Amino acid sequence: MSEQAVQIRTSGKVLQSPCGSIIHGLEDVLIKNTSISDIDGEKGILWYRGYRIEDLAKYSTYEEVSYLILYGKLPNKKELAEFAERLKTHRDLHPATAEVVRSLAKVHPMFAIEAAVAAEGAFDEDSLKLAEALRVGRYKAEEKELAYRVAEKLVAKMPTIVAYHYRFSRGLEIVKPRRDLSHAANFLYMMFGKEPDPLAAKGIDLYLILHADHEVPASTFTAHVVASTLSDMYSAVAAAVGALKGPLHGGANEMAVRNYLEIGHPSKAKEPVEAATKPGGPKLMGVGHRVYKAYDPRAKIFKEFSRDYVSKFGDPKNLFAVASAIEQEILSHPYFQQRKLYPNVDFWSGIAFHYMGVPYEYFTPIFAVSRVVGWVAHILEYWENNRIFRPRACYIGPHDLQYILIEQR
Ligand code: SDX
Repeated sequence: MSEQAVQIRTSGKVLQSPCGSIIHGLEDVLIKNTSISDIDGEKGILWYRGYRIEDLAKYSTYEEVSYLILYGKLPNKKELAEFAERLKTHRDLHPATAEVVRSLAKVHPMFAIEAAVAAEGAFDEDSLKLAEALRVGRYKAEEKELAYRVAEKLVAKMPTIVAYHYRFSRGLEIVKPRRDLSHAANFLYMMFGKEPDPLAAKGIDLYLILHADHEVPASTFTAHVVASTLSDMYSAVAAAVGALKGPLHGGANEMAVRNYLEIGHPSKAKEPVEAATKPGGPKLMGVGHRVYKAYDPRAKIFKEFSRDYVSKFGDPKNLFAVASAIEQEILSHPYFQQRKLYPNVDFWSGIAFHYMGVPYEYFTPIFAVSRVVGWVAHILEYWENNRIFRPRACYIGPHDLQYILIEQR
C-alpha cells in the first residue's frame, strides 16, 4: 500500500460495537507486507514487483509476468524458456480430475473449477508430500522447492480445467493441450479446437497479464486464510475460486456484458445509470472499487484493446458502443464523481470475449486462469512468515440463560 493510502486507513467503514471499532469488510486493514504488487488507489496506478502494468501490458506475456510474480524478477531468455516448458509439461490433468469436470458439465463452470482444483490436489504427489512436511512443521529449502513446483502446476492446469468444462458442457470431445502454443493460444485452442486468430490470442494474453495479481482482494485473502492453516495449496486455490465467483468480485465481468446486451443501444444507457444512483438501486457491474478512487488502469488498457477488436471484427450488438455511453454518463454524473466511482477491470473485459465466442459464463473462469498465479505467489510469500488467521467477533447476545426442558417450553 503506497504512502497516501496509509493516511486514509481510518476512512474505512467503521461500525461501533461494545467491544470497540469494527472495520466493516476489513477496509484498508493491513494483513502483511508484500512485494508482489502495489496499488495507488488515488492515482490509479498498479505495479507488479515494481513494474507498471502499462509497461507489462505493452511488452510482456503472461508467461513472463507469471515468472515475475512468482520469482520476483524478470527472467532472461533461458529462464523464461525453461519456465514456459515446465508449464507445458504440467498442462494435463489427472484422469479422475477430468471425470470430475465431466460430471459437472451441466453446472456453471465456476462450480466445476472449484471441485476440479481440489480433486487435482488429491492426486498431486508433490502437494501431498509438501502437506506432510508442513504437518510436522518442516518448511525448508527442499519443501520450498516443492511448493514452487506445486504453484507452477496450478498455473499450468487452470486453463485445461476451464477448457475441458467448456468441451464437456457442449457434448464435445476434449482437445488435449499442445506444447507448441503459448499459454493464451493453447487455452483458446483447447476451448475451440482450432488455432486462434492472432488478435484473439493477443487479447487473451493481455487479459491474463492485467488480472494476474492485485494485492489482497477477497479471493487472495481467502487463499491466505486457508493456506495459513497449513492446508494444501490446491485447497487454498479452490477456496479462492469460490470467493472469485461472487458478483461483487470476479463475477462482475459476466454481469456487465449481460447488462450491455440488455440495454442494446447507446441511446438507452442513461436509464440504468440513473437507476444505479437510487438508494438500494442495482449497482452498475464493472463500476466502483474498494481501492481505486480513480479510473482502474487495467480498464483503460483493455478499453483500447476492445476498441481495436471491434474495429477489426465489428460491434454488431453495440456492446462497445453501449459501454462507451455508460462510461460517459458515469464520468459526468455527480453521484459517481462524488463517490469516486469509475470503470474497473470488469467494465470492458467481456466485450471482446463475447465476440470471440466465449460464452459469458466463462468470463470469470478466465479471470481465475489469470489470477491463479497471484494466489499461489501470495501463499508462497505468506508461508515465509506464516501465522494462522484467527480474528475475533464482538458477542452481543445474552449469557448464562437457564436451560428449560422441552416438555416445559
Ligand atoms: C474486482 O479488490 C480488488 O482488487 C478486486 C479486483 C481484483 O483485481 O481482484 O479489482 C476485481 O473485484 C473488481 C470489482 C468488480 N465488482 C463490481 O464491479 C461490482 C460493482 N461494484 C460494487 O459492488 C462496489 O463498487 C465494490 C464491491 C467493487 C466496492 O464496494 P465497496 O468498496 O464496499 O464500496 P461501497 O459498497 O461501500 O460503496 C460506496 C458507495 C455506496 O453508496 P452510498 O452508500 O455512499 O450512497 O458507492 C456506491 C455504494 O452504493 N457504489 C455504487 C457502485 N459501487 C459502489 N453505486 C452504483 N454502482 C456501483 N457499481
